[in-house]
Amino acid sequence: MRTAMKISIVISAAFMILTAACSQKQNEISVEMNPAIEVLKTRRSIRAYEERMPEKVLIDQVVEAGTYAPTGMGKQSPIIVAITDKTVRDRLSKLNADIAGTESDPFYGAPVVLVVLADRNCPTYIYDGSLVMGNLLNAAHAAGLGSCWIHRAKEVFDTEEGKDLLRQWGIDGDYEGIGNCILGYSAQETPTPAPRKSNYVYHVD
Ligand SMILES: Cc1cc2nc3c(=O)[nH]c(=O)nc-3n(C[C@H](O)[C@H](O)[C@H](O)COP(=O)(O)O)c2cc1C
Repeated sequence: MRTAMKISIVISAAFMILTAACSQKQNEISVEMNPAIEVLKTRRSIRAYEERMPEKVLIDQVVEAGTYAPTGMGKQSPIIVAITDKTVRDRLSKLNADIAGTESDPFYGAPVVLVVLADRNCPTYIYDGSLVMGNLLNAAHAAGLGSCWIHRAKEVFDTEEGKDLLRQWGIDGDYEGIGNCILGYSAQETPTPAPRKSNYVYHVD
């Protein structure tokens, strides 16, 4: 009886050690190979694009991912305007360039512009809109597309012409431009990211 108990204890202990070792190994694998984290780390701002329009299914996938960003109290204060019309895209580029004081295309030739605006009446609208932008940029990379945040959406949509464009698109309300996510097939080498600054993270254990 005693021998049987000893054998049973030894087997149980061996089983527990094996299980712990396996689960540790599994954790290591999932941390190293987690595809979502890989996407977050390898996305880069792309500043040269092919002319060809990305497939609609890819654009839709990116836009849908934007709509799943978290928002304060779940109010979903942002909206996304997906622009693939070349005339409108060029007009927005010109308005943006005028504000930046440049002659060059601030959209770097990208064929798609996803404009994110958010409702000023929501206290968290800038945070909400920025998270939508983040989702769009990362989703673009996951879908094999290049992207970049292009600023001055606020200034563009605060102009009379910007407000008029919103009205033409059937958008009513007190919306502020948060950012333009340009989208397309990359025509450049993926840039190497700058080293992360040494004091980025503070651990309080
Ligand atoms: C709020 C914000 C505004 C930005 N505006 C512009 C812009 O107008 N033009 C541009 O080329 N890049 C712009 N960027 C992209 C940044 O320059 C880029 O994210 C940064 O250099 C880091 O590079 P990475 O995105 O490749 O990691 C902007 C990024 C953010 C977050």
